[in-house]
Amino acid sequence: MSKRIEVNDLNVYYDKFLAVEGVSINIEPRTVTAFIGPSGCGKSTFLRTLNRMHEVIPGAHVKGEVLIDGNDLYGPGVDPVLVRRQVGMVFQRPNPFPTMSIRENVLAGVRLNNTRISKSDADDLVESSLRGANLWEEVKDRLGLPGSGLSGGQQQRLCIARAIAVKPDVLLMDEPCSALDPISTLAIEDLIEDLKQEYTIVIVTHNMQQATRVSDKTAFFNIAGTGKPGHLIEYDDTATIFSTPKVKATEDYVSGRFG
Ligand SMILES: Nc1ncnc2c1ncn2[C@@H]1O[C@H](COP(=O)(O)OP(=O)(O)OP(=O)(O)O)[C@@H](O)[C@H]1O
Ligand SMILES: [Mg+2]
Repeated sequence: MSKRIEVNDLNVYYDKFLAVEGVSINIEPRTVTAFIGPSGCGKSTFLRTLNRMHEVIPGAHVKGEVLIDGNDLYGPGVDPVLVRRQVGMVFQRPNPFPTMSIRENVLAGVRLNNTRISKSDADDLVESSLRGANLWEEVKDRLGLPGSGLSGGQQQRLCIARAIAVKPDVLLMDEPCSALDPISTLAIEDLIEDLKQEYTIVIVTHNMQQATRVSDKTAFFNIAGTGKPGHLIEYDDTATIFSTPKVKATEDYVSGRFG
């Protein structure tokens, strides 16, 4: 299921504004890659190009290539809806559908995809997805209650269950723990460690400890100034980025001297 992502010389625009410039990066299957860098350098923008969520914004577009196992996501005839099924996303704020039950939240992506599914297959999928998100034990007796009745950390795991229920190949996470307490954060980090057996995971984080705890590789993005495009400055093993980075700006950032 896990897939390789290859990005070649990608420019990302909001209308005429070039937000991210010239990114080339290879992300291996079954790894966790952390995107770090100061606010506004384009981490979220770049992340959203990896499942074609970027172009949902009017005028937003890209130039360059994003290949998933060799297939260009932006190739002619590629259906962005299918891309988003293959490349799932979890956002900064847990966003379960508030009026839907826990069970229906897990199934929401599958239903959107118009996949017909029997009651017993749905039951199995709900259980396996919630187990996958390490939430099953906490919610198995209240699957019919609204998702909004869960704690923030549980809601975020519910969103992860919803994302993995459609069986994606890649999971993108944009600061998934920034609204969570330390205990819930560690629960999500443990989960990421488990999930990487099956998925290619990319996580944006402002938490340097988190990057060192969960990721195999780290990509440092930076921006020269307001209105300038963000660039990928350095990409390497996480241990290298945090101990012996090659670029001074990376060292300054990871050691807390700016950003
Ligand atoms: N919808 C949008 N329309 C126009 N410009 C946008 C839009 N979203 C982001 N930008 C701009 O693109 C640039 C990159 O923003 P982005 O949100 O990707 O940064 P980021 O690295 O994720 O920052 P943060 O760490 O604060 O989340 C910024 O200059 C931002 O103002
Ligand atoms: Mg962001």
